[in-house]
Formats: sequence, structure tokens, C-alpha cells
Amino acid sequence: MESNLHWHSSFVSKTERQVLKGHKSFVIWFTGLSGSGKSTIANNLERRLYQKGITTYLLDGDNVRHGLNQDLGFNEQDRKENIRRIGEVAKLFVDSGTIVLSAFISPYRLDRDSVRKLLEDNEFIEVFVNCPIEECERRDPKDLYKKVREGEIKEFTGISAPYEAPVNPELVIKTDKDTIEECVDKITNYLLDNGYI
Ligand code: ADX
Repeated sequence: MESNLHWHSSFVSKTERQVLKGHKSFVIWFTGLSGSGKSTIANNLERRLYQKGITTYLLDGDNVRHGLNQDLGFNEQDRKENIRRIGEVAKLFVDSGTIVLSAFISPYRLDRDSVRKLLEDNEFIEVFVNCPIEECERRDPKDLYKKVREGEIKEFTGISAPYEAPVNPELVIKTDKDTIEECVDKITNYLLDNGYI
């Protein structure tokens, strides 16, 4: 959309905001099936970072779909738009000096890569929450798989809609093998070892 809009640089820079907060800002992007544990791990990681005095914000699929993205459904186009908007919101948060944790299925590789491209180098950490669909269905925390089997939900990720696993994610966590604590340790250690925090 060409227009007569002009980008204004703000007087306070991203770097200055980061200095004020005392850490870098970037996105930790969780992707995985429904019920894989994205929100659980993201929430526990956020608590861990908070205890270290780090400024974070968690963007969560179910919550964002109640507000900003309440007009979107689950067909391919809507999911694409869902992730595009989240990417833009995440970028604003990064600009504010905040570490973003995002927990969306984000089933399409291309859409996740678009968010990566929207950000600067080293501002996007893709965490693949890898959990077999059988285990996700066994957990079924929201009774969604049950509804899918009863024919109440169409286009459900992993069953009647695709999930494209990341090819080269920064991190893979296995929530069917490791405890929540171990998964959070793994991500925290990655952040420390790579100078993110
Ligand atoms: S995404 O595919 O567009 O990234 P998002 O993470 O925002 O999905 O929302 C997924 C959540 O919506 C799931 O955790 C589940 O609670 C709910 N949901 C409802 N219908 C579907 C569906 N058809 N496929 C996947 N998740 C669904």
C-alpha cells in the first residue's frame, strides 16, 4: 500500500532503551502443535527471567486471538495474517527494549521465516517445542482433540491441517522427555551461553 506516510525515527533509540533496561531485546519464538507445551514453557521461562530482573512480555495464541486477532480463524490465510500481525507486534516490543516470548502454533515455515526477516540478526530465536501428536492428544488440556475426533473442529493442526516443523531452529525442546524445569534450564542456558542475557 503506497501512501504519503513517512517513518519517523524516535528521539530515544532501541539501543538506549536496552541500556536503560540492562539487557538486549529479542524474540523467543515458540512453535509446535496444540498441547505441545508452548504456553507452559513460555510462562515458566518468563517467570525465570522476571526473577533475574529482566523485562519480558508474553504473547500467547489463545489470548491474542481474544483481542487483536479476534477477527481471524484457522484457515491458511487467517493463520498467515495472525502470524504477520504478531510479528509486527513483536518487532515493536523489541524496539521498546523488551524480550518477547511468543507462543503460537505458527504452522507454516514461510510465515515464521517472514517474522525472522522482519527483525535484525540475532533478534529471533526459534524454539521448536517438539512433542509427538499422540502425547499432545493424550494431554488434550482444552479437550480440543476430543472435539476434532467428534467432528466438531475442522482444519485442526496436525490432524486435518498441516504443521511444518522447523528445519534449523535455534533450539529444540522435548516436552515428552524432559521436565518443565529442564526445558526452561535449556533455554536459559542458551541465552546465557550466547550472550543474550
Ligand atoms: S496459529 O496456527 O494461527 O499459529 P494460534 O497459536 O494462534 O494458531 O492458536 C492456536 C490455538 O487455538 C490452539 O492452542 C487452540 O487452543 C485453538 N484452536 C482452535 N481451533 C483450532 C484449529 N483448527 N487448529 C489449531 N488450533 C485451534
